[in-house]
Amino acid sequence: MQRQTEIYIRGVSGARPRIPVDPRRLEEAARERMTPEAFAYVAGGAGSESTIDASRAAFYARRIVPRVLRDVSSRSTQVELFGRTLPAPILVAPIGVLELAHRDADLAVARASASLGMPMIFSNQASVPMETCAAAMGASPRWFQLYWSKSDALVESFVHRAEACGCDAIVLTLDTTMLGWRARDLDLAYLPFLRGKGIAQYTSDPVFTALLATPPPQPAADVKRRVTPAALAALVEMTRAYPGRGFVAKLRSRRPIAAVQHFVSTYSRTNLRWEDLRFLRERTKLRIILKGILHPDDARRAVAAGADGVIVSNHGGRQIDGEIAALDALPAVVASVDGRIPVLLDGGVRGGADVFKALALGARAVLIGRPYVYALALGGEDGVRELLRNVIAEFDLTMGLAGVRSCAEIEASALSQ
Ligand SMILES: Cc1cc2nc3c(=O)[nH]c(=O)nc-3n(C[C@H](O)[C@H](O)[C@H](O)COP(=O)(O)O)c2cc1C
Repeated sequence: MQRQTEIYIRGVSGARPRIPVDPRRLEEAARERMTPEAFAYVAGGAGSESTIDASRAAFYARRIVPRVLRDVSSRSTQVELFGRTLPAPILVAPIGVLELAHRDADLAVARASASLGMPMIFSNQASVPMETCAAAMGASPRWFQLYWSKSDALVESFVHRAEACGCDAIVLTLDTTMLGWRARDLDLAYLPFLRGKGIAQYTSDPVFTALLATPPPQPAADVKRRVTPAALAALVEMTRAYPGRGFVAKLRSRRPIAAVQHFVSTYSRTNLRWEDLRFLRERTKLRIILKGILHPDDARRAVAAGADGVIVSNHGGRQIDGEIAALDALPAVVASVDGRIPVLLDGGVRGGADVFKALALGARAVLIGRPYVYALALGGEDGVRELLRNVIAEFDLTMGLAGVRSCAEIEASALSQ
């Protein structure tokens, strides 16, 4: 209630919230602030974007049935996860290329998350190296999200860096071994990585930078590259995005362009199999959490393979058009995991009532995604903090109004179906 009261009291002196509280207005305001390419990259999904619609429809279809006269005067939104007590069952999802939203990118999100003690999951495609973010977070929890590169040495290096900078877990994302068919980005012919954006974990990595001295792989012969003003502008962007000072020296070194070429050729393995998880298990003591699980059989397999947790996710509808909504997949995954490891969920979480619904269907916690990117675009670190506080505040109020005092009390019977 504190957050709500704060907003209304400030309103008496004429102040309005810095970022819109209404999630639709938040997205709309961010669209106006961001470049068309940046907004398309963040908001877009695969094909006709029916998976994005399904994710929201799944939340809409579940209705909360409140219970009354239960004394909800004292409540707690806290939850236990992997030996830590979190302030709320909410983590900050791994989202790549945050520099598209704000110059401070991941660092702003790290500071905002840490100020609230909420875990941030560093993206493999971050705009700021994990060490820089971790250094700004004190003892606040962080995890590292991994895309399994074609280079095992690079995978090992990322994992070791995550250990060294205090991450509690490795989140292995399984649904993006290839980029989905993203209509908005294709229409704009825009992929940020080709402009050197979102590859900071690579350009700060000793194994990756050692590769830059080797000849870059040649582009496919049928792709003709012409020197156009746009190509030169892209080269400037690439060079600016590359770490270090001295634009001309960086340009002359050819490292910025080599980094993009090597990134493209090593990004991800499409031949990954269950057996490969052993490689990761043998190399780290950190918890391993599998992201992108939707089938109950895969969830069972994850438990058998020694995963410490799963995240039910369709990658924000960015990978397959017509994919099942994570919320619709959740109950069967929860049933097949049968309490052996925590089940998390993301996709379409836009407010505190959505968090409540996901928990009622058996999720231990949820990840918040796009809304914090929009808040970042509008208000940097303060904007992200405001957004996160709003979601927690709405979750707390929803709990109280539904007649529950703790996350453990949120049961399936709290929903009408
Ligand atoms: C712009 C953008 C970039 C993303 N980058 C990553 C990433 O680098 N790694 C990852 O595991 N998931 C990534 N995701 C997926 C999110 O972690 C999360 O699954 C998704 O945003 C949930 O959907 P929602 O934001 O609509 O709620 C990205 C999502 C968006 C929108």
